[in-house]
Amino acid sequence: MFARLSRGRKVLLGALGALTAGGAGVVTALHVSVSADEFVHPPPLKWSHNGLFSALDHKSIRRGYQVYRQVCSTCHSMKYLAFRNLIGVTHTEEEAKAIAEEYMFMDGPDEEGNMFERPGKLSDYFPRPYENDEQARAANAGSLPPDLSYIALARHGGEDYIFALMTGYCDPPAGIDIRDELYYNPYFPGAAIGMAPPLYNEILEYEDGTPATLGQLAKDVSVFLRWASEPEHDQRKRMGMKMLMIFTLLIGASYYMKRHKWSVMKSRKIAYRPPN
Ligand code: HEC
Repeated sequence: MFARLSRGRKVLLGALGALTAGGAGVVTALHVSVSADEFVHPPPLKWSHNGLFSALDHKSIRRGYQVYRQVCSTCHSMKYLAFRNLIGVTHTEEEAKAIAEEYMFMDGPDEEGNMFERPGKLSDYFPRPYENDEQARAANAGSLPPDLSYIALARHGGEDYIFALMTGYCDPPAGIDIRDELYYNPYFPGAAIGMAPPLYNEILEYEDGTPATLGQLAKDVSVFLRWASEPEHDQRKRMGMKMLMIFTLLIGASYYMKRHKWSVMKSRKIAYRPPN
């Protein structure tokens, strides 16, 4: 088809092609150079659990639970976590039982068909601060505090993002106006968040005596939320380590087997004897 065109037409077509490709390139380059996100990406932090074989810091998870319980749980539910999930991770069975018993739960119906309140049990899930989403919105100037059970997986940046969000509140730059009930936080997509800065220095007193600075509180709650999103984290890494060890052995064994089975093939000699 192309071969049948006259020389002039070929040159014209070629030029057109080059122009289109060049134009597309320029447009793409322009687009990339002007499209900026309207928020800051959280810097990746050096978490102690980052390593291939590193477990979560369980003392930090325990402190993080304390932060969640004393601060975040007034607005955020964690409806997929039960008190029994804390056993062996942050608390002993007795401690978890004692925590559960501090809350009252609606149960029933009893023999007369009435609902009744009873203290919590290990099998109860974390109580929710609001009855429903509408109530939650009404109490937070229209913003819905999301359930935090899986938040570290549900947001880009995971625990880096949560840490940055907790510590990133600041005054809006000149020229940016924020509605009265919103707060400026450059790490939140859109930068105007409906959550007031939840943490500040010494908002609580850690039961293990760790100084409760803003950075410490934010770090601990981030580790806690990472654990909650991925309770199998430590188990997964332990399995990975076992897998690597077993596979190393297996590779050696399979190499030996392969040499063994193929030795017949490799050492045979095929000869052609022409019929006399
Ligand atoms: C006074 C109530 C209140 C408290 C206390 C509170 N939050 Fe929030 N939080 C909110 C509201 C409301 C939103 C929704 C904001 C929005 O969508 O603009 C929110 C949103 C969030 C988000 C989601 C942001 C996103 O990317 O969508 C995270 C994560 C979060 N809070 C973590 C925490 C943690 C951790 C604590 C405890 C240290 C905490 N919050 C304490 C009200 C609260």
